[in-house]
Amino acid sequence: MNILLLGGGGREHAFARSIAQSKLCSQLFIAPGNPGTAQHGKNIAISATDFDAIKKCCIENKIELVVVGPEDPLVNGIYDFFIADGELKNIPVIGPSKDAAQLEGSKAFAKEFMQRHSIPTAAYQSFDVNSLEQGVEFIRTLITRVVLKADGLAAGKGVLICQTLEEAEEQFKEMLRGKFGAASERVVVEEFLHGIEMSVFVLTDGTNYLLLPTAKDYKRVGEGDTGLNTGGMGAISPVPFADEVLMKKICIRIIQPTIDGLQQDKLVYKGFIYFGLMIVHGEPLMIEYNCRMGDPETEAVLPRIECDLVELFMATANEKLIEKKIFISDKHAATVVLTSGGYPGLFEKGKKITAIESVEDSIVFQAGTKVNDGELQTAGGRVLAVTSLATTLEEALKISKTNADKIQFNNKYFRTDIGFDVLK
Ligand code: AMP
Ligand code: GLY
Repeated sequence: MNILLLGGGGREHAFARSIAQSKLCSQLFIAPGNPGTAQHGKNIAISATDFDAIKKCCIENKIELVVVGPEDPLVNGIYDFFIADGELKNIPVIGPSKDAAQLEGSKAFAKEFMQRHSIPTAAYQSFDVNSLEQGVEFIRTLITRVVLKADGLAAGKGVLICQTLEEAEEQFKEMLRGKFGAASERVVVEEFLHGIEMSVFVLTDGTNYLLLPTAKDYKRVGEGDTGLNTGGMGAISPVPFADEVLMKKICIRIIQPTIDGLQQDKLVYKGFIYFGLMIVHGEPLMIEYNCRMGDPETEAVLPRIECDLVELFMATANEKLIEKKIFISDKHAATVVLTSGGYPGLFEKGKKITAIESVEDSIVFQAGTKVNDGELQTAGGRVLAVTSLATTLEEALKISKTNADKIQFNNKYFRTDIGFDVLK
């Protein structure tokens, strides 16, 4: 069958690689894709949020399955757009409906969902400009550090962890006054949780789910988890401390109530759910939902899945996931992201990338790259993601770092300590 994949980052390169390996895939199209996805299919120069152009592309190329990488098209309602269109309604879209995508699109919606379905999470309240005074009062009741979250999508920048109550009050007011534009017209104020983060991913058909490999991403730019937040500087999979006992708690207390909650609330969901968790003294608490796979976690997770991904997608679309099993490699994956120096602040683009071909024993996923006059160049903050699989995490990390060293571009930067906190 012909498949259309939406998105154009490292996550989509990883998806493209796995989808192209499927015996069910005849032709893969990626919109807009990047030079990495072009190794596995045909890039189409349209935006992942241009629904009319996507419709045209689906009809022209006889697309039979659409896989959505990023959150924007989902939150904008691509699932519903297909269902509502006479010519598209029989093409399955892997991703949630617009209403269900609010689990990522609105932090207040997600928190209310967790509360309604008794899913453990940090204590919180949400406020808008009319309840500013109550918000300030609530902040004053929080003993620990305060976490402020813009309700809407803010490109990963809408979460502030405040060290003092004064800072929290000031930032809270600034957010309500438009610090993150419309995204912070509503602000979720929550208690700070001390613990260790991890991510769990499932693929669900709305009734059943398959548990994908666990992962941990490293969001801070600096070694030892210091400095500014980024889109993600690396990832590992599996998470070594996620033993059977913890995973059982996560399934019983968080994943199953989420699936049941979606059904009770009549939220149509056929796609990936990303559970961002904080493990506090061995107990899992929900931090956030994403309605898609993570980036760079996907680059660590997908290479460990040893079954036909497209078969799983079709079972998802046909509500037959119960009949499917997932096979996961015992190997450890370590992904190291190579960024343009300066990211997540100002950085330069258009630097020539060389020596990718000298990489051995790793997969190089392309994220922010472009081809200019036949030359591969940097085109974003996160440029490449180097993934290695090995018997131990230490070994996988060593291979990724060796190869990250070999690849060259001006002002290249990467963290050498991905996984440091679980290796200690
Ligand atoms: P979110 O966009 O909700 O995932 O928040 C971004 C990051 O902020 C998370 O990955 C955590 O590192 C941190 N964070 C969010 N909420 C909390 C919390 N309640 N306690 C501690 N850290 C948090
Ligand atoms: N790596 C975190 C995310 O994709 O949101």
